[in-house]
Amino acid sequence: MSGEGGDEGRALWGSRLGFLLAAIGSAVGLGNIWRFSYTAYANGGGAFLIPYFTALLVAGIPLMILEYAIGHSQRGSTPLAFFKIKKQWEIVGWWLPMVATIAVLFFYAVVIAWCVDYFTFSFTLGWGNDTAKFFTEYLKASGSASTLGDLNIRVAATTALVWAACWAICYREINHGIEKACLVFMPLLLLLTAVLVVASLTLDGAVDGIKMYLKPDFNKIDLFHNPNAWKVWTSAFGQIFFSLSLGFGIMITYASYLPKKTDIVGNAVWTCVANCAYSIFAGFAVFGVLGFMAHEQGVGIAEVAKPGGALAFIVYPKAISQLPFPGTLRNLFGAAFFLALVIAGISSAISLVEALVCAITDKFKIKRGNVVTFLCVAGFLGSMTYVSSAGSSIMDVVNAYADQALILGGLLECLLVAWIMKASVARQHVNDSGGIHLPKIWEFMVKYVTPAVLIVILYLDIKGTVSLFTTGKADVAAHVIYGLRIIATTALFAWGLTMFKWYRKSPHKPEEEHILT
Ligand code: TRP
Repeated sequence: MSGEGGDEGRALWGSRLGFLLAAIGSAVGLGNIWRFSYTAYANGGGAFLIPYFTALLVAGIPLMILEYAIGHSQRGSTPLAFFKIKKQWEIVGWWLPMVATIAVLFFYAVVIAWCVDYFTFSFTLGWGNDTAKFFTEYLKASGSASTLGDLNIRVAATTALVWAACWAICYREINHGIEKACLVFMPLLLLLTAVLVVASLTLDGAVDGIKMYLKPDFNKIDLFHNPNAWKVWTSAFGQIFFSLSLGFGIMITYASYLPKKTDIVGNAVWTCVANCAYSIFAGFAVFGVLGFMAHEQGVGIAEVAKPGGALAFIVYPKAISQLPFPGTLRNLFGAAFFLALVIAGISSAISLVEALVCAITDKFKIKRGNVVTFLCVAGFLGSMTYVSSAGSSIMDVVNAYADQALILGGLLECLLVAWIMKASVARQHVNDSGGIHLPKIWEFMVKYVTPAVLIVILYLDIKGTVSLFTTGKADVAAHVIYGLRIIATTALFAWGLTMFKWYRKSPHKPEEEHILT
């Protein structure tokens, strides 16, 4: 491959499967395991699939094709691609992955670290009987975003390990590092998840749990009769965006490493379908176990179902301790669950590291390895904010902004491609690259439908955040310090970066074009 970190070019994906697994690896993350099923359950069960698939068709798939088309046609990292389309847009290209790194990746790495620790606890069921108390003690949480407390050495050490893993995977060129890792990670993740699903289906009460997960409640999604239904629809869009890793420039970067002849539409549809199918599948393991818990305790599922961290670190460990399996199998079930989370998390984290590495090596004449080292050390230091006692409280604040940043990112991409580069040009490019034909309706979607829907969703989301302030529910200081400040400083940095000249503008070597990926 041309110059590992050398100066004439970057590598390309070794195979179509490698690319797809890396893209799916980025999409399938912690969110698929602990966010999707609860969101579905809380928002109408089976009926939630209607807004969810609508979001997939209206925004998910069109934007995935759009991101692949940007990266593939411009053959560069997000800021370079934006720069090539319209010079003034370079700043947006920097801003998206930077916000994502600070708003998502810094805490995401810490959560992966918790999963690593819980993986080790599984072997002794070290969380004891009171898993909620254990979790708080483990985190040394203060319950407030402004009480920083002491640094938690144990979590800090595991977080260092997570960053070291990202460093080791990203250090080499994409086809040697990320591609090889995902070729192992993704089949392993599927296997672990299948084991978890099958094992949880054998539990008493599992079927009831799954019924609750999928039982449709159409009133929840009924926009005409239920005044709160819009919240369900915005969560469906939020979930699709977050889950598909859209709006942060990740998929643009991954697609820039595709060879000239490629099936953009097929790749995009595969990525989306695999991601959503995985989410639904993993929900069986989550709700099977929740059904078992409810059955054990003789309570309704609502008593035990919790979203996110509480599910993974409080409810699930408790269930694992009570599983009716022989001793070691119980430990292995726990280990499989946390290992699945670790793998799903790392394969997402590396995709964002790559987005920045690619951007920096396009801009400056610095060796890839050095950029990776710098970013992983900086990332580790950034993650330390979340390792303090206030960590999990700060996460809640930042999370609120992350979704909005994603949706804004998607909207800006749409405007850039559909209106500045022109949707017809992008579609022509996709069709010239070979593979499945992109129908003309896509142009209409990305010009009108997708942006219109995104504007509405963004408006509702921002309105929701503003009402937290006006009703006095928000920790104003925390929002200003962690939410708004991140947005402002990253914008400033992004602007600063546009002052420098591009080191490479057309990075791929023609002789590598023979592989059809
Ligand atoms: N797709 C990931 C999930 O479902 C979330 C995610 C989106 C992400 N963009 C990311 C994670 C960037 C890390 C880095 O969990």
